Amino acid sequence: MANTILVGAQWGDEGKGKIIDFLMDETHVVVRSQGGNNAGHTIVLENEKYVLHLIPSGILRRGKTCVIGSGVVIDPVALVSEIEGLRARGIKIERNLLISESAHLVLPYHQALDAQREMLKGHNKIGTTKRGIGPAYGDKAARTGLRIGDLMQPDIFAEKLAGRIRDNNVILRGLNVKPMSYKRVLTAYQAAAEVLRPFVCNTVIYLHNAISKGKNLLFEGAQGTYLDLDHGTYPFVTSSNTTAGGACTGSGVPPHRMDHVIGVMKAYTTRVGEGPFPTENEKLGHILHDMGREFGATTGRARRCGWFDAVATRYAAILNGIDELAITNLDGLDHVETIQVCVGYRLEGRILHTPPSLARDVEKCEPIYKKVVGWNCSTADARTYRDLPLKARKYVELIASLTGAKLAIVSVGASRAQTIRL
Ligand code: GDP
Ligand code: IMO
Ligand code: MG
Repeated sequence: MANTILVGAQWGDEGKGKIIDFLMDETHVVVRSQGGNNAGHTIVLENEKYVLHLIPSGILRRGKTCVIGSGVVIDPVALVSEIEGLRARGIKIERNLLISESAHLVLPYHQALDAQREMLKGHNKIGTTKRGIGPAYGDKAARTGLRIGDLMQPDIFAEKLAGRIRDNNVILRGLNVKPMSYKRVLTAYQAAAEVLRPFVCNTVIYLHNAISKGKNLLFEGAQGTYLDLDHGTYPFVTSSNTTAGGACTGSGVPPHRMDHVIGVMKAYTTRVGEGPFPTENEKLGHILHDMGREFGATTGRARRCGWFDAVATRYAAILNGIDELAITNLDGLDHVETIQVCVGYRLEGRILHTPPSLARDVEKCEPIYKKVVGWNCSTADARTYRDLPLKARKYVELIASLTGAKLAIVSVGASRAQTIRL
């Protein structure tokens, strides 16, 4: 499989965790290179559900190495609780997890600022996960961030934290928010530091050596293409580069070592949080929510749902250089009589085949639909491509050809077995 970047081709929650787990047989090392615990990647193994937020989705497989690269923002307390939660369920976390010493920290004042900024925005809010992601990346860009490497040196951390708490408390007081207790934060973070210490290293060197030894690396994207800070529906985005290039900057693996890009997309579209969503459809949302699906893995929020948007996925294929497609959640459409696929946008009398750059223009786009007759039976038991009803095969072939990449994987359920490799 060589070195593969896996990205979400829509607005996140495409089923990346499930596809990563499926690809683990051919993978030695899984790398997270951006985002933080705003991500929620679900893996279902023998009816047991695991939701991973910061730890790469390879951790459930023995003998695989999981790397958290420098581009990830880490809340150390949340990471320790994720590690402990997995250990309590019998998952071994020892030498199979590596954490970059250059990764930035998410601190409690980032979460307080995230919540406060959202509140002040009122109806213009982004609908963030309130995990402090935006303010943490903001500090990184402003060069006022603290890193895992700082956390590993108690004296340096104590001193730097004191300065950062002092500065942020001025801001918080100005916003009428309770200031942070330096002592409380220091104690919690120092305790987390001791749990994380054995995993911390220079992950760039580890990855370089792994490549030299011919190991297969899989870069696990978090969020999705349209939540990318540069290319998404700004400002309704996250604060990292979720597109394929982010895998290089956030891991320190150079572009010419990357061989392949897989784009994961649902057979329809979902989005959590605010922002434009041209194909949003309330009726489809009711159908999916009534089936007990499309509730967020991190915040539990009901996801907004809509038809498959080929204008968006085609542009995602260009942006990420997607070679192969994994289409998930096909079974979500099993009993939808007439399925719609967006093949173009109408904007102020013009027909567009790529999304406008500005969110306010995307907001005004009216989708142009092609109607597809549904297959009206369960696909959940399909194990080979030929097991799928002809109409379902035609549907995935249509959305793959509109997207412009090779159809490689079709997923018909949350478990590993419910995955078809073409
Ligand atoms: P991620 O963030 O991209 O890893 O996706 P999430 O885990 O947040 O959301 C995807 C949801 O769809 C999870 O509940 C998965 O268990 C589920 N899922 C993934 N693929 C399929 C599928 O083909 N069918 C069904 N029914 N569920 C799926
Ligand atoms: P995975 O990796 C879906 C969304 C939030 C909000 C916006 C900004 O599971 O696909 P943030 O907390 O990042 O500042 O929120 O981004 N968002 C996600 N939506 N899946 C995710 O991750 C997301 N991570 C952030 O809902 O709209
Ligand atoms: Mg998710």
